[in-house]
Amino acid sequence: MAFIQMHDVIKIYEEPRTGLQIPALRGVELSIKEGELVCIIGPSGSGKSTLLKLLGGLDKPSSGSITVAGKRVDKMSEEQLTEYRRYDVGFLWQFPERNLLPILTALENIELPMKIAGFPREQRRRRSLELLDRIGLKDRSTHRLHQLSGGEAQRISLAVALANDPQVVLCDEPTGELDTKSTMEIISFMRELNQEYSKTIVVVTHDMRFEQRSDRAFRILDGMISGVRQAIKNHAASEGKVSIVDAPPEREELIYVDQFGNLRIPKHFLQETGIKNYVRIHVEGNKIVITRADD
Ligand SMILES: Nc1ncnc2c1ncn2[C@@H]1O[C@H](COP(=O)(O)OP(=O)(O)OP(=O)(O)O)[C@@H](O)[C@H]1O
Ligand SMILES: [Mg+2]
Repeated sequence: MAFIQMHDVIKIYEEPRTGLQIPALRGVELSIKEGELVCIIGPSGSGKSTLLKLLGGLDKPSSGSITVAGKRVDKMSEEQLTEYRRYDVGFLWQFPERNLLPILTALENIELPMKIAGFPREQRRRRSLELLDRIGLKDRSTHRLHQLSGGEAQRISLAVALANDPQVVLCDEPTGELDTKSTMEIISFMRELNQEYSKTIVVVTHDMRFEQRSDRAFRILDGMISGVRQAIKNHAASEGKVSIVDAPPEREELIYVDQFGNLRIPKHFLQETGIKNYVRIHVEGNKIVITRADD
């Protein structure tokens, strides 16, 4: 079984006032290997944050199963979820204020998760300094949130996410507030930390710049994983990870076919071929040929 696995995950929110049901996820199938850096790219409202919250044990699915590192997250009690969120996963959010407490210094912020987890003082300090050094911000140890640039704040937030040495780091739009330079820096740091500490990293975003820098880029549309863009096998797979310095390997786009045989044809194909509602479909050797049939 994969390291992270979501099977037929459905999440329906209920509007408390009106009782209206809002489907945010409609049968997500997702499988991520240990040590992968993946991104899940989709437009606003496609269900990215919902998916991440479920993976992080911050909310429960309406149905379906979620397994992370051999644990069934969807079946955990509140107590187990608290433990899970503390030790198994780290979070990186879009807004620095959600990652860092403004009254604490950078160093104290990195120490906080370890303090809550009950690590001894010396060990906390040592690891925090190590992490600060690793992200190249040792000289910012006494700075508070308002004294940090956006990029620095997110790097420190990344250190906070890693403080308790979680197996998985979950990031929601981590570069949403950053300029291009800081964005590229954060993406590079993620890649380095992913490789150095073999962390599994999941980034949900609408930032296409993550695509080339991740092992695989899933697409999410209307609450469903619709496809994945990945390095072409026997090209990159044999060479190992995608490097951030080398030219990115060639990529291919795969479309997800669900258990009912549904697949989502990308918009640009529909536009190119003029397909609107109906197609003809037939098999030619090992190919399925889809032809416009609207007229
Ligand atoms: N707590 C909630 N109660 C009701 N509906 C919600 C709730 N959270 C999200 N939704 C709805 O679920 C859908 C998916 O929301 P979600 O926040 O997961 O999207 P997203 O892809 O993260 O969007 P964005 O890029 O804007 O952050 C949206 O239609 C949203 O309005
Ligand atoms: Mg979101």
